[in-house]
Amino acid sequence: MMKKKRVFLTRTLHNFALKELKNQYNIEVHSGKIPIPRKKLESKIKEIDGLICFPYDIIDKELLDKAKNLKIISTYSVGFDHIDIKHAKKNKIRVGYTPEVLTDATADLAFSLMIDVMRRVSEGDRTIRKGDWREIYGAYDYVGTDLQEKTLGIFGLGRIGSTLAKRAKSFDMNIIYHNRKRVSRTKEKSLGVKYVTFEKLIRQSDVISIHVPHTDQTNQLFDKKILRKMKNTAFLINTARGKIINEKDLAESLKKKIIAGAALDVFESEPIGNNHPFTKIQNITLAPHIGSSTKETRHKMAKIAVKNLHLGINGKKPKYSVGY
Ligand code: DGY
Repeated sequence: MMKKKRVFLTRTLHNFALKELKNQYNIEVHSGKIPIPRKKLESKIKEIDGLICFPYDIIDKELLDKAKNLKIISTYSVGFDHIDIKHAKKNKIRVGYTPEVLTDATADLAFSLMIDVMRRVSEGDRTIRKGDWREIYGAYDYVGTDLQEKTLGIFGLGRIGSTLAKRAKSFDMNIIYHNRKRVSRTKEKSLGVKYVTFEKLIRQSDVISIHVPHTDQTNQLFDKKILRKMKNTAFLINTARGKIINEKDLAESLKKKIIAGAALDVFESEPIGNNHPFTKIQNITLAPHIGSSTKETRHKMAKIAVKNLHLGINGKKPKYSVGY
């Protein structure tokens, strides 16, 4: 009888996914500290044929060089900045990821964060919970900002950015965008968006939403220099990756009212605790990295992660493949 291939999961998945994997492979699921301690991952990766990992598992060169039998890394995420893609390719290890299925959920979250911070919903919630809501509204109390007729600047008009544009259109917002590469005129027309330089995006937007991957070029891009160029009435939304923003500079800018507010689903280092400087600032909404977090979407992501693994472990290109 052929020996079953070995598959390791750095964290558990839905029961249906585990069942499907168990039928075909010899599987092991890490339990205990999350993310999995490096030493454990180092020892496991030496022995396995397939890996299912999460966006907080750092799969670097050193780790990849230990993976003598590994055929596929299937990440349960659309982001893959935690994996050294070039080195995986060099070592003939395929990488699968989970785009498309989480587009709507993530765009919805970006949009809801935008409404939340502009209309001060979470801030109001905190006010009530602290027992500080003492008088019914006056002319200047709890006033937020209209979305209608404001300019939304989408940084990265990929799947999620484009879906956000559709949401924003129905709220009568003007939409500008910046991308490394301008999209086709047909797409611009159908979405009702206008291409601008990065500089113009920063200066003209009333609210900027970040939808680019974290790369060497975008690392800490939103620092004090950029934040100072934004309107002092503008808002910054981030559902992409925390490292795109310099958190220290953002905290300073919010305190000094250099910009009006921010809403973040992602952070430089996650999870953040209640000692994080952002938790002491009022004009910021914080979410615990829930961009793709709906039961429907997470289920679909698990299906794809398993499918990518099956294909890659059998020497085929994953359904959603990074690189090759
Ligand atoms: C991803 O898939 O990369 C997201 O950050 C998870 O919500």
